[in-house]
Amino acid sequence: MMREPTTHSKPSDTELRDEGIPKVDVMSIAERAPKTEETMSNTPDTTPPRTMISTRDFSSWYGKFKALHELNLDIPERMVTALIGPSGCGKSTFLRWINRMNDTITGARSTGAMTLGGEDITDSRYDVVDLRRRVGMVFQRPNPFPKSIFENIAYGANLHRKYSRSDLEQLVEHSLRQAAIWDEVKDRLKDSALGLSGGQQQRLCIARAIAVGPEVLLMDEPCSALDPRSSAAIEELIRSLREQYTIVVVTHNMQQAARISDITAFFYEGHLIETNETEKLFTRPAEKQTDDYISGRFG
Ligand SMILES: Nc1ncnc2c1ncn2[C@@H]1O[C@H](COP(=O)(O)OP(=O)(O)OP(=O)(O)O)[C@@H](O)[C@H]1O
Ligand SMILES: [Mg+2]
Repeated sequence: MMREPTTHSKPSDTELRDEGIPKVDVMSIAERAPKTEETMSNTPDTTPPRTMISTRDFSSWYGKFKALHELNLDIPERMVTALIGPSGCGKSTFLRWINRMNDTITGARSTGAMTLGGEDITDSRYDVVDLRRRVGMVFQRPNPFPKSIFENIAYGANLHRKYSRSDLEQLVEHSLRQAAIWDEVKDRLKDSALGLSGGQQQRLCIARAIAVGPEVLLMDEPCSALDPRSSAAIEELIRSLREQYTIVVVTHNMQQAARISDITAFFYEGHLIETNETEKLFTRPAEKQTDDYISGRFG
């Protein structure tokens, strides 16, 4: 599939500076680690971040077609991990396994391990409803329910837990604030969500995902249907949410991956070729295939 060359050019440091975007702030492992009483002392904290999602020899098939090959990937807690790679390399397939959305596809199956907080989520006995509360999903095209803005947030949250009216109002406000859309919608909560702009709808969908109290947010090309200004708002939002959530985001835009992610994983034809801190992967890729892709030589 043809892609616009600009989305694949490797962002130089100068380019990133010229766009007024600070170079990726890949915080050191110690800085991001959860603080404990012991680590709150002045001694440098060298605790590695906790792994939230982990795969070991994880493979998946659609019927006879093997879409993912023996993936070994650790996704750290409360960081943004970007999945990049050419069309058809398995990014969405991988993302969908994390909240078991492939379950409904006839012939889709997996082998190997995928754990969330140490628990095996591929086990058929694992409660999928609970999994989807823990792992929210945001799609490429914003998909609000044809309901009011308020109901979009309240509906799903109420399915998981019964709230009093005043608690629900607080939850709706909190979620909309976290998704940086409260000020734009606070006076029109009863209006249909379908009347919002694309960028606002996407932030509403992020608020809806947040409202059920997830630990992980999966985002499959969340900006690709949006104009540059709305994309910038979503990027900023992703950066702010990473303080609290583990975020896995698929993007075809190299500059975007460089701006928003801490870790980047490069997929090619169902294989995980390379994963590293984002800045290192973009400036000193270890594999030639990664270098070729981020330099726009294919894809
Ligand atoms: N429901 C399905 N049934 C059969 N094959 C599928 C199905 N969904 C995806 N595939 C195949 O699995 C491979 C990986 O697809 P996937 O959608 O995960 O790629 P992707 O990296 O997300 O691509 P893109 O960047 O175009 O979104 C492709 O060869 C695709 O054709
Ligand atoms: Mg995809």
